[in-house]
Amino acid sequence: MDAAATTLVVFGATGDLASRLLLPALGDLMVAEPDRRVRLIGAGMEDWTADRLTKVVRASFQTADADAALERVEIEYHQADITKAADLKKLLKGLSGQVALYFAVPPAIAARACDAMTPEMLPDGVMLALEKPFGIDETGARELNARVAALVPETQVFRVDHFLGKSTTLNVLGARFANRILEPLWSVENVESVSIVYDEKLGLEGRAGYYDGAGALVDMIQSHLLQVLAVVAMEQPTTIGEADFREATSAVLRATRVWDDDPAECSRRARYTSGSIDGDEKPSYVDEPGVDPARGTETLATATFEVRNARWSGVPFTLRSGKALGDPAREIVVRFRAVRHVPEGLRGSSDGAVLRFSLGPDQMSLDLNLNGANDPLVLERATLSADLGPGQLMAYAEVLSGILDADPMLSVRGDAAEHCWRIVQPILDAWKNNEVPLEHYQAGSHGPAAWPFLG
Ligand code: BG6
Repeated sequence: MDAAATTLVVFGATGDLASRLLLPALGDLMVAEPDRRVRLIGAGMEDWTADRLTKVVRASFQTADADAALERVEIEYHQADITKAADLKKLLKGLSGQVALYFAVPPAIAARACDAMTPEMLPDGVMLALEKPFGIDETGARELNARVAALVPETQVFRVDHFLGKSTTLNVLGARFANRILEPLWSVENVESVSIVYDEKLGLEGRAGYYDGAGALVDMIQSHLLQVLAVVAMEQPTTIGEADFREATSAVLRATRVWDDDPAECSRRARYTSGSIDGDEKPSYVDEPGVDPARGTETLATATFEVRNARWSGVPFTLRSGKALGDPAREIVVRFRAVRHVPEGLRGSSDGAVLRFSLGPDQMSLDLNLNGANDPLVLERATLSADLGPGQLMAYAEVLSGILDADPMLSVRGDAAEHCWRIVQPILDAWKNNEVPLEHYQAGSHGPAAWPFLG
C-alpha cells in the first residue's frame, strides 16, 4: 500500500463495537472519499485471520460501492493481548506515517492498555482514539487523562462522541453564527428555556452487559447531550479550529451545574415495562437477557441544568433521553420569551417563538405568531421550516474522518470529559440514595404520563 495511506489499528477488532459502528463508518468514509486509502490492522484476543476480518469488514461496508471501497483498504489481523507490553510492542513495531490507534474495547481494558504502553513503543505523531464512556466517574476520567497524557500530547487524543459529528449539531453553528438574526437574541434576555431531547424506539439490543451498568443518564446525557448543550450555549469561537472550538465548548461545561443545586428536584428516572412498538412486542426491561433488576437501572432520564454565566444564568436547559419510546422526539428546542406587550385589538396566540433543530430527519423550524388567514387581527401560529439534509457522512464517519486526518475538533477535550462527569455526579449520588423514585412507563408510550412535555 502506498505511503499516503493512513494506518488504522483497531484494538477489539473482533468485537461488537467494531462491527456495529466503527467498520460501517469506515465504509461510509471510503465510499464518500474515493482518494482515501487505509491500512487496517485489526487486533484482538481471538484466533482470527485476515480473511475472517475481511469478511466482517465486507459485511460492514453495506453499500453498493463496497467492493470498490474495499480495494482501497489493506487488511491485516494480529492476535494480541493489548494489556501486555510485549504484544503491543510487536503489534506497533515498524508502523510509520499517519497512524491511529482506535480502542474499540471497554474502558477498563483501554486503561490497562494505556498502562502497558510507553511513549517509545508508539509511532511518531500517533493518534489515540478512545470510545465512550471515558472513565466511569470524574476521578476515573482524570486518571485516564493522566495516563494518555503521559503517552501523547492532548491534540493527538481523540475522545469519540459521535453526536459532535451529527450534521444538525453542526448546523447549530451555521444558524447561530452566520446570520445576524439569532445571535442577538441568544441569551437569558430573550430565551426562556432550552431542551435537548433524544428519545429512541430501540430497546436494549442485546447490550445489557454495558447498558445495565450505565443507564440512560450516563449512556446519553453525561456524554452526548451535554456536548450538544455546549454547542448550543457556546460563545462564538473565532475559528472552528480545534483550539477555538473546543475552548468555547469547554467554557460552557465549566460553567454548568445541576439546576438550583438540587439534584433530586431537577432530575427524574424511569424504566420501561412490556409494551409494543410498531407492532413488535417488547418485554419489560427487567426481563431482557442479562439485566439484573436489583440494579434499578433507568432506561429514561431527564435532568435540568444551568449554565452559570452572564449569557445564560436563569435559563433552564433540560436534557432527556430514553429507550423503547413511541413516536420519539429528537430535537433541540429553543423557546423564546413572549413579547411584553401585544397591541390591544390583536387577539389570538401570543406565545413566544420556538426554534427547533430536529436531529434526524435533519430539519430546522421556527414557530411564530402571524396574522391569521381569515381575520388579520387574530394571530395564529405558523411554522417556517427547512430540510437540512442528513449530511454526506454518517455522524460516526464524520468523527472517524477527523481521527484519520489528525483533526481533533470533533473530539472531546480532556477537561470537558472530566466536567461531564462532575456535572452529573450529584444526580448519580441522589439516585443512589433513593432521593428520586424509579418510575415506570410502558414500552411504546411517551414515558410516564406525569412527566412534562418538552417538545
Ligand atoms: C450510543 C448509545 O452512544 O448512542 C446508544 O450508547 C444510543 O445507547 C446511541 O442508542 C444513539 O445514537 P445514534 O446516532 O445511533 O442514534
